[in-house]
Amino acid sequence: MFSERISRLQGSLVREILAVANQPDVISFAGGLPAPQAMPKLDFTELPASLSQYGPSEGELWLREAVAAEMSKNGVPVNANDILILTGSQQGLDLAAKLFVDNDTPVLVEAPTFLAAVQCFSLYGAKFIEVGLTAHGPDLELLERKLREEKPRFAYLIPTFQNPSGVCYDEATRQRVADLFDEHNVVLLEDEPYRELVYDQCDRAPICSRLKRAAWIHFGTFSKTAIPGLRVAYLACHPSLMQNLYKLKQAADLHTNRQGQWAMHQLLTSADYPAHIARLREFYHQKRDIMAQALDKHFHDIADWAVPPGGLFFWVKLKANIDSYALLEPALAHKVAFMPGKPFYANERISNELRLNFSHASPERIDEGIKTLANVVRAHL
Ligand SMILES: Cc1ncc(COP(=O)(O)O)c(C=O)c1O
Repeated sequence: MFSERISRLQGSLVREILAVANQPDVISFAGGLPAPQAMPKLDFTELPASLSQYGPSEGELWLREAVAAEMSKNGVPVNANDILILTGSQQGLDLAAKLFVDNDTPVLVEAPTFLAAVQCFSLYGAKFIEVGLTAHGPDLELLERKLREEKPRFAYLIPTFQNPSGVCYDEATRQRVADLFDEHNVVLLEDEPYRELVYDQCDRAPICSRLKRAAWIHFGTFSKTAIPGLRVAYLACHPSLMQNLYKLKQAADLHTNRQGQWAMHQLLTSADYPAHIARLREFYHQKRDIMAQALDKHFHDIADWAVPPGGLFFWVKLKANIDSYALLEPALAHKVAFMPGKPFYANERISNELRLNFSHASPERIDEGIKTLANVVRAHL
């Protein structure tokens, strides 16, 4: 009755946990939710009535121009024709999967990687090749070998404040990754939802801007800097890919909602935009430091972690070899939610890691939640 691919369809654990975690008495470290206080206020009083009509599939020209200008400032010299507006960057992953993935197509991902990308690519039949991460980016020797021997059709990377690990590739790694992709002519999917959420000095120049030969798609979104509920994001890509991506977008949903595009254009071009981003960084920076202190206090003898220089997550590795998935139920029973490591690995494995989001819980509740979580872990040792 169903298509063959439905047999590969998986649910999203994070969305299931979020359904529980959103209850007001639960301290949630589970999602990647921006803090409601950090979201800009929307004002639709001057929304042009003409935007109630159907719009162009590629997105509104004024928004594509503003996005292209922003990307050019960040080191990717593109113009409006290189930009496709998306209904969330999650849609971009889906369009890219439709473009590249057949049954058993080799796809290279970081280990760990973004769980919703795994859900999406596996639906279309991806066979995953994993490359582990170090503090500076992917294990380069392994990356070189996998590109050479397993010839992935594309690689999906999150170089800046990686979800879930928080890793930010350093300058030398970015260059080496670009050189390897050019040498092996592998398409790069570079996903950058967190690049603006930077708290410590680090290199953030997109890898796609260093490519000379390999094709690429670069994803950006307004979900983490503005309002995820609006579902407005974008991709920029190598000219050889745009025609197909444009047609796939047409086939998927005709176009992204025009009211959301208008609101994001207002924000992006407003005089207050740089101050909004600065406030956001300051706000999350403080929360990151509060969680770092709480971890130092309650987890120092039971886990290891690195303080992330940006993004929204701590990736905490327990010293004991226990399955962090088994901690979820007791943690939820104690009204604390987190994400266990397991679903972040494309090829199934047991994980003793936890992803802890610090943007959503209030500063007072961060310490309380981390303390409770540490007690849950200790009870399992
Ligand atoms: C790495 C990564 N890519 C994409 C997304 C999806 O973003 P959007 O809200 O634009 O669909 C997220 C959201 O958490 C993410 O962490």
